[in-house]
Amino acid sequence: MSTRVRWGILGTGMVAGWLRQGFRGCQKAELWAVASRSPDRARAFAEKHQIPAAHGSYESLLADSSIEAVLVTLPNTLHREWVERSAQAGKHVLCEKPLAMSARDVQAMIEACRSQGVHLMEAAMYRFQPQIEGVLQLIRSGRIGQLRHVQAAFSWPFRDAANIRLRKDMGGGCLFDLGYYPISFAVLLAGRRPAAVMGSACYGDSDVEESAAALLHFDSGLAALAECGFRIDVKIHAEITGEEGRIILPDPWTARGNKKQVQVWKARKLDETLEFEDPNAYTREIDHFSGVVRGQGGLLWTPEESLRVIHTLEAVARSSRTGESVALKPG
Ligand SMILES: NC(=O)c1ccc[n+]([C@@H]2O[C@H](COP(=O)([O-])OP(=O)(O)OC[C@H]3O[C@@H](n4cnc5c(N)ncnc54)[C@H](OP(=O)(O)O)[C@@H]3O)[C@@H](O)[C@H]2O)c1
Repeated sequence: MSTRVRWGILGTGMVAGWLRQGFRGCQKAELWAVASRSPDRARAFAEKHQIPAAHGSYESLLADSSIEAVLVTLPNTLHREWVERSAQAGKHVLCEKPLAMSARDVQAMIEACRSQGVHLMEAAMYRFQPQIEGVLQLIRSGRIGQLRHVQAAFSWPFRDAANIRLRKDMGGGCLFDLGYYPISFAVLLAGRRPAAVMGSACYGDSDVEESAAALLHFDSGLAALAECGFRIDVKIHAEITGEEGRIILPDPWTARGNKKQVQVWKARKLDETLEFEDPNAYTREIDHFSGVVRGQGGLLWTPEESLRVIHTLEAVARSSRTGESVALKPG
């Protein structure tokens, strides 16, 4: 077994290209193969990105015994099937967010990976930015006191009806796509599921959410407002307010390679501006998971975290459809 974990990617779409760039900086991982439903697309992607092996089917990549870990970059509704098939083939799996479209599916995926003795992690890329760890440390240190409010947003215009984001059969909708970020961020900060949620969404021609907002109530006394949309101008922001101060993240989700600044405000005055390095978060995510595969520590984004997030997303989706608030079991 080589020291670097040998990886394969399922899918040749947008995020697969970004992840390929991420592999270039990895110390613990090497990208060995890509698979597509189309042999031509697999070859073209492998040539463009200098990947040694190209497979004309996902099954064929999973049959390659030299591959230890698989990145699932398929549409949301295909995640469960290909995570489970990867686990059955003995591969560790890093699967794009959200892990699936329901808590029932996520639970089944976790159990499938546990029973095969392989690791599973949801690719919550933003969590691997140094600024997020820095903000969590600030909060733990008590810098802004007890958390009371989180306001977070991710909107980005998408109008192409053929894009998986606007296709119901592919698990489209801004809630599980962009809304994943502000909602999972609030859940991460709370360290638990909300006790109740209220959702509001507008649906497009294909009956997926094109804009949405969610109010999350946590029984620690924290309330979060999360916004997202495909038919809204770009909006990227997060603000955390405690009893003794406020933290503002002007660029919480994207990995652009610039330095990131985070502000701490106290009593209407800017108290401090912290600057964080912004290395490629995909590189850090893949190296982290590869380290876990090699027995170097535990997962930063655990299956339990993914379960909390999917329970919340599902509840918000239901509330948006019915107009009723939804209570969640503790967890
Ligand atoms: N972490 C992040 O930063 C990030 C960013 C964007 C998206 N994502 C997630 O990554 C996943 C993929 O998003 P994407 O934007 O990369 O999508 P995309 O560009 O549409 O790529 C999806 C790929 O899935 C494969 N596929 C298999 N069956 C398909 C079908 N029936 N219809 C369409 N494609 C199919 C296709 O590859 P072949 O045809 O070659 O097999 C396609 O290239 C989603 O879960 C999304 O939420 C994560």
